[in-house]
Amino acid sequence: MIPLSLEQIARITGGRLDGDPAAVVTGEVVIDSRRVAPGGLFAAVDGERADGHDFAAAAVAAGAVAVLGSRPVPVPSVLVADVPDALAALARFVVDSLPAARIAGITGSSGKTTTKDIAAQLIERLGPTIAPAGSFNNEFGHPLTVLRADAATRYLVLELSARGIGHIAYLCGIAPPRYGVVLNVGRAHAGEFGGLDQVARAKGELVEALPPDGVAILNADDRRVLAMSARTSGRIVTFGTSHTSQQPHQSYAPQPSFMAADIRLDDLGRPSFTLLTPDGSAPVSLRLHGAHNIPDAVAAAALASELGLGLGEIADGLCAAVARSRWRMEVRQRADGVTIINDAYNANPESVRAAIDALRHLARDGRGFAVLGHMAELGDFSQASHAEVGEFAAKAGLAGLIAVGDEAAPILTAARGVRSWHGEAIAAPDGAGAVAMLVNRLKPGDVVLIKASRAAGLEGLAAELELEATR
Ligand SMILES: Nc1ncnc2c1ncn2[C@@H]1O[C@H](COP(=O)(O)OP(=O)(O)OP(=O)(O)O)[C@@H](O)[C@H]1O
Ligand SMILES: [Mg+2]
Repeated sequence: MIPLSLEQIARITGGRLDGDPAAVVTGEVVIDSRRVAPGGLFAAVDGERADGHDFAAAAVAAGAVAVLGSRPVPVPSVLVADVPDALAALARFVVDSLPAARIAGITGSSGKTTTKDIAAQLIERLGPTIAPAGSFNNEFGHPLTVLRADAATRYLVLELSARGIGHIAYLCGIAPPRYGVVLNVGRAHAGEFGGLDQVARAKGELVEALPPDGVAILNADDRRVLAMSARTSGRIVTFGTSHTSQQPHQSYAPQPSFMAADIRLDDLGRPSFTLLTPDGSAPVSLRLHGAHNIPDAVAAAALASELGLGLGEIADGLCAAVARSRWRMEVRQRADGVTIINDAYNANPESVRAAIDALRHLARDGRGFAVLGHMAELGDFSQASHAEVGEFAAKAGLAGLIAVGDEAAPILTAARGVRSWHGEAIAAPDGAGAVAMLVNRLKPGDVVLIKASRAAGLEGLAAELELEATR
């Protein structure tokens, strides 16, 4: 955070100051009052569950210099009409004060956080880097992340999310990127968009926001992403996986600039591959589980390379990169020989398929069970998408498929319809029910995948299943 006086904050946001104009904010700007640190600024947001203004006094007692809010509070404050707009204005001020910082944006339907976390671990080798914690990628998390930058910052690696047209353009206006990575166009939030072409329109706003000397880093294996090259006058860099990969896919580009070839997965589904780049090739072994991490890693490599990191450092950094954000393909082995994959951070049709592919690989010598909750925000695509996942899971030959909750039920109906499948289709009312169903079924060598949208709340299930082994 660059130090800002309350007077400056009021001026930048067009807000009304109630407090000492010379008081200086030196600490983080937060919207969670429990995360206030001395010298920080507490932004009071009127949320679904709570109104931040109710925590204004507690935030100041915890050390906040003032509150940025939209209605009067009994402590020093800057009052504005709209708090997200005020955060955006502050963040833009910070960006404009730091012309030496290079800004990269990452978007796509799946894998933003994974790519951002890998890219940050590479780019940190070049210099001080700011990247969001977890999925801070919307109109709150994005400016809060940008506000953490200071005079020492050289790189901002930002995750940009969209639930509709114009969202990414708005985020790009806060911190104009010179580098834009687009991973894929899938059905995450497709219900809110109204279709894949609309998703592509929205994700491509990142590419449109790039300046003429900018760089668009595009997935050559996704035709909707590759088509975005027409939407910028910046330079195009492509990435992809080779035809020899184990993942069947169609490539739309003759030869991506950055590519994974000779792909192999170890027993725990961790990919190794040869990274091909314009500067040569290098062997890479990821610590992350699942083939779907390969395009994310190659995209991160392309971005790091464009920012100036050498091939040796990129390969070394990819091999060392760990999952920084929770509940994404966390693989644990119980003492009794049961393996549990916790991928309960979120779910959409593409990421469920990717996770089932990984499950199938881990369970190739044993039995695979998938505990699936519903995939949220798919709108008109919901029923068909759940059915498609059920069919995919059954065709993957899983020993058991447990659907949690009513909304996930179409998964089972479709799975039962696959004649060649002889596994068990089980409906569980909730997470506890799913654990109860599994306890007596699991035996050494089995692998369990847990996956759902966050709304299903299955992220704690893996720990419960681990605990069961000790009972
Ligand atoms: N390239 C990919 N293709 C398909 N699935 C992927 C890919 N990369 C990651 N995933 C899976 O998608 C899920 C979400 O990953 P991640 O958190 O990186 O995505 P995200 O785009 O940041 O999601 P969100 O929109 O919730 O922020 C995880 O379950 C992960 O295993
Ligand atoms: Mg994310």
